[in-house]
Amino acid sequence: MKLKDKLKQWLPASWVRRWRRACRRKSWQRNWSRTDYAPLWLGREISPEIVEAVADGWFPAGQPALDIGCGQGEVVAWLADRSFPSLGVDIAPAAIKRARSRYGEIPGRQEYLALDICARTPSDHQFAILIDRGCFHQIPDIDLPSYVQNILSVSVPDARLLLFVKAFRAGIPIGDPAEWKHQTARVRTAFAGAFTIIRSDQIHLDAWNGQRAEQALPGLVFWLERVPVRETTDRSRLMTEAQTAPLTRE
Ligand SMILES: C[S@@+](CC[C@H](N)C(=O)[O-])C[C@H]1O[C@@H](n2cnc3c(N)ncnc32)[C@H](O)[C@@H]1O
Repeated sequence: MKLKDKLKQWLPASWVRRWRRACRRKSWQRNWSRTDYAPLWLGREISPEIVEAVADGWFPAGQPALDIGCGQGEVVAWLADRSFPSLGVDIAPAAIKRARSRYGEIPGRQEYLALDICARTPSDHQFAILIDRGCFHQIPDIDLPSYVQNILSVSVPDARLLLFVKAFRAGIPIGDPAEWKHQTARVRTAFAGAFTIIRSDQIHLDAWNGQRAEQALPGLVFWLERVPVRETTDRSRLMTEAQTAPLTRE
C-alpha cells in the first residue's frame, strides 16, 4: 500500500478532506498563475443562457448575484454593468487577482473574493441569483454536501441557480439520453432539499461554442430554483438519503 493511502487510513477524515481541498487550491492556483494558461473554455463569451435569464427576467432585475468559481471574472463584470450587484468567488487567489486587474472592483457593486466554496461562505451577503459555470463538476462527491450547504446559506428564499456542467465526454455521444439522465441524477442528488431542477438543455462550454469539433467541450445547463424554506429545514434527512443513494448511470 502506498504511503499516501496509509496516511488516509490513519488520519481523521476531516484532515484528509482539508488536505485534499488544499491540494485542489494549489492546483488551481498553479494554473491561474501561469501567463500562458489557455484551457479551451477560457475567454468564452457570456453564455446565451445568462443573457436570456437577464433579458426575460428569470434573474430578477437588480438583485444580488454570486458567481461561484468565477475564474477571471467576466460574468461578474457583465452582470454589474447591467445593475446586478455582483460578487465572484474563486478558490484561486491568482484568478481573483486576474479578475480584479481585468475588470476592477466597485465596492457593493462589483467585487471578487478568494474563497473555497466547500470550506466557507461569503457570510455577510445574501443572493437571489447564483451562477456556476464549470465549478460544480470539479467538486468531488464527498464535498458536495458542503458546497450545497454553503450556497444554500447565502441564498434568499426564491433564489435561482444557473448551473453549467460538463457532459457527453470520453466518447459518449452528444445528447446521449443515459448520460443526460446520469448528470441530472448527480445534480438532483447533490441539491436535494435545497434547489429543484426546473429544466435542462444541451450546450457547449468551449470558447467556440462547439463550432470546432476537436476543441468542443459539450455539457449541460440546469435551471434550478430554491425549494421553499420549510422543505430546506428537512435537508439534513434528505442529504443523508442523497449521500447514501448510488450515483450510478440510470
Ligand atoms: C472551469 S473553470 C470556470 C471559470 C469561470 N466560471 C468561467 O466560466 O470561465 C472552474 C473555476 O472554478 C474554480 N474552483 C474550483 N473549485 C473551487 C472551489 N471549491 N471554490 C471556488 N472556486 C473553485 C477554479 O479555480 C476555476 O476558476
